[in-house]
Amino acid sequence: MTVRDIRLMGDPVLRTVAEPVVTFDKELRRLVKDLEDTMVDAPGSGLAAPQLGVSLRVFVYDVDDEIGHLINPVLGPFSEEMMDGEEGCLSLPGLAFDLKRPERVVAVGQNEYGDPVTIEGNGILSRCVQHETDHLDGVLFIDRLDRETKKAALKAIREAEWSGLATPKVKSSPHPLFGRAR
Ligand code: NI
Repeated sequence: MTVRDIRLMGDPVLRTVAEPVVTFDKELRRLVKDLEDTMVDAPGSGLAAPQLGVSLRVFVYDVDDEIGHLINPVLGPFSEEMMDGEEGCLSLPGLAFDLKRPERVVAVGQNEYGDPVTIEGNGILSRCVQHETDHLDGVLFIDRLDRETKKAALKAIREAEWSGLATPKVKSSPHPLFGRAR
């Protein structure tokens, strides 16, 4: 069981578009396991790889007592019907805000062995799949709040005790950055 540190809002990895997974090896399966362990420990209903500082298109979920994962997700179609509900994020601990999302979504992607997978989610699973896929695109749920709620959210974030703790500690990267800003 490996529980890893969860990156907080303010960490640039949460604002980076994650890379597609191309190698379905042991290392990837370890990442999926670490994500699951960290999510269950938190506890949370979903966790995306960038939240562990890994910029790859992988997320895990724990909804209705079912733990699963999806790699390289592509979402759609979405239902026209929308749902209300509170949403939170382990990278913004202790905060939750109302956010309307499509009630149903279909997600296609792969499992940890590279086999094709389709998830049809409604309710909380739909919300979770949308929220976690956003993470892979560098999007946080607060970006999607309506104007008024967002104002309240930003104030709560400024006042949160973890605010400002996410200052990057990277001294040098072992990987070439190919000129990309970190
Ligand atoms: Ni999140």
